[in-house]
Amino acid sequence: MLFYFTGTGNSLLAAQRLASSDEKLISMADAVNNEKFSYNVPENENVGFVFPVYFYSVPDIVERFCRRLKLKNQGYVYAVITCGGGIGGSGGLLGEILGKRNITLNNVFELLMPDNAMLFYNIPAGNDVTERLVNAEKSISEIKNKIAAHEKKVIKGSTSAKIGRTAYRFFRSTKKFFVDNSCVGCGMCAKNCPDKAIEMKGGKPHWIKDVCTKCTACINRCPSKAIQYGKATIKRNRYVNPVFGGK
Ligand SMILES: Cc1cc2nc3c(=O)[nH]c(=O)nc-3n(C[C@H](O)[C@H](O)[C@H](O)COP(=O)(O)O)c2cc1C
Ligand code: SF4
Ligand code: SF4
Repeated sequence: MLFYFTGTGNSLLAAQRLASSDEKLISMADAVNNEKFSYNVPENENVGFVFPVYFYSVPDIVERFCRRLKLKNQGYVYAVITCGGGIGGSGGLLGEILGKRNITLNNVFELLMPDNAMLFYNIPAGNDVTERLVNAEKSISEIKNKIAAHEKKVIKGSTSAKIGRTAYRFFRSTKKFFVDNSCVGCGMCAKNCPDKAIEMKGGKPHWIKDVCTKCTACINRCPSKAIQYGKATIKRNRYVNPVFGGK
């Protein structure tokens, strides 16, 4: 059983590669939106959590899911956390959150993938991204072997995640999002938003929540590059993983 969250596809690609042919992939965003928090784990099946690191911490929607999760028959439990640089203490924080649900996290794997954090700075594009994706495939194979061997480690250290989470809360406001004239009204941004924070009104997107998970799906995946976040993003690269049609 594999629980995943993704904004721009890195974590979904990793989840798809890690899942065995008959393993169920469960979207944590859908589960939160449908209030589904109880699961029976099939016999001898692992439980995986695959998601991106945000501010060395855990995405808000993942935290909301894990804080209410009830698992029956858990066996080996692992997390694969995708990142553009490093996962900090996010694994330690996840371990603490799951521990309160009587779920023991047996291992955490860091998976370096292309950076999608273009709200804050310009992100690499072109060859740098291609190279990252090629290297990520190798890392996923290594991680898969370790999961198959049920490799365990003591997971500790959540300090950087707790500091990062304070900064993350400050950056979760949707106020700086706006749409420019190149919007074609396709509605993809509203459809792709895991937090249901966008509604189409008069053929244009409107951010209807004051805060969101900040996954960057709306701004990175808009086919017209019509979404901006303050003035700086107009000149910045966008990133979409090939799993969602990016190159
Ligand atoms: C709000 C936000 C915060 C991020 N913070 C970090 C971070 O602290 N460290 C890091 O290495 N990458 C960080 N990233 C980059 C993502 O974790 C990375 O690109 C991830 O693979 C994206 O996964 P996804 O495509 O499944 O959404 C951040 C991205 C976003 C949108
Ligand atoms: S995805 Fe882009 S083009 Fe489509 S409605 Fe949203 S802002 Fe407009
Ligand atoms: S509004 Fe945009 S950044 Fe915020 S959760 Fe929705 S898609 Fe992600």
